[in-house]
Amino acid sequence: MNRIYRAEDWDSYRMDYSDPHRAVEPLEKEIAVVDGALEMLWELGTLPHIRYSHEKLLAHRQAVAELFEIPWTAITHRMQRLIYAVNAITQPKNMIAAGVFCGNTFISNAGAGVGPGACYTADNLIGVEIKPEEAERAERNARRIDPTGVARVVAADAVDVVRDFPGPIDLLYLDADGDARRGKGIYLDILESGLDKMHPGTLVLAHNSVNCADRLKDYLDYVRDPRRIKASVNVIFDVEGLEVSVL
Ligand SMILES: C[S@@+](CC[C@H](N)C(=O)[O-])C[C@H]1O[C@@H](n2cnc3c(N)ncnc32)[C@H](O)[C@@H]1O
Repeated sequence: MNRIYRAEDWDSYRMDYSDPHRAVEPLEKEIAVVDGALEMLWELGTLPHIRYSHEKLLAHRQAVAELFEIPWTAITHRMQRLIYAVNAITQPKNMIAAGVFCGNTFISNAGAGVGPGACYTADNLIGVEIKPEEAERAERNARRIDPTGVARVVAADAVDVVRDFPGPIDLLYLDADGDARRGKGIYLDILESGLDKMHPGTLVLAHNSVNCADRLKDYLDYVRDPRRIKASVNVIFDVEGLEVSVL
């Protein structure tokens, strides 16, 4: 089952990538738009329910704004809320985020399990970043919010980390922009390297389903093939987009 969730203002809803903490719409609007996406995911059986703590999300948001060094990010408040909510609702024991740059996308996922937004206990929340200096910064950022080390960032190729991960993968977040040959097409390589550790119910979140749709064609064809994937929703509420797929 494939669906598109489209907010009517997706194209005019814009953030400043160098000023990511500034709200660009009233909170009620942000909540309503994200609730619409969560409801569609729930109707398709992708989520068991759509309840999550709005207070914890805001505590998480504030901690990231105060503690993280973020040179830029394309993660809108809508996207941060959706990613946090999906993690808070499904509570993945093992989550891997591929291509985390400074760590903002990573902590949008992991923040449901660690720090002031935590609502469950995870086993492994792993961010993977291929550039060592970016991985170092992302790890520094993560340590400021999670002294326990459950959320950690490794400097490596996400294809290798996902392939070698020993346990089940409950949630995979894809954001790596690959090399000159593959670009974001690397999403499919990362997904395929971990399929043997995924199970019915594993969630795969892929950023840039809108603005990189051409480069992601093979990946999107794969996750939208009902013979392979139970359901997939293209969430279009900002210019980047997120494909949410459940095995
Ligand atoms: C464009 S950034 C993602 C930024 C994120 N969307 C945001 O708005 O904060 C993509 C990151 O993926 C990393 N990357 C590229 N190929 C990778 C791979 N094979 N494994 C892990 N990270 C990779 C790049 O170094 C880069 O930091």
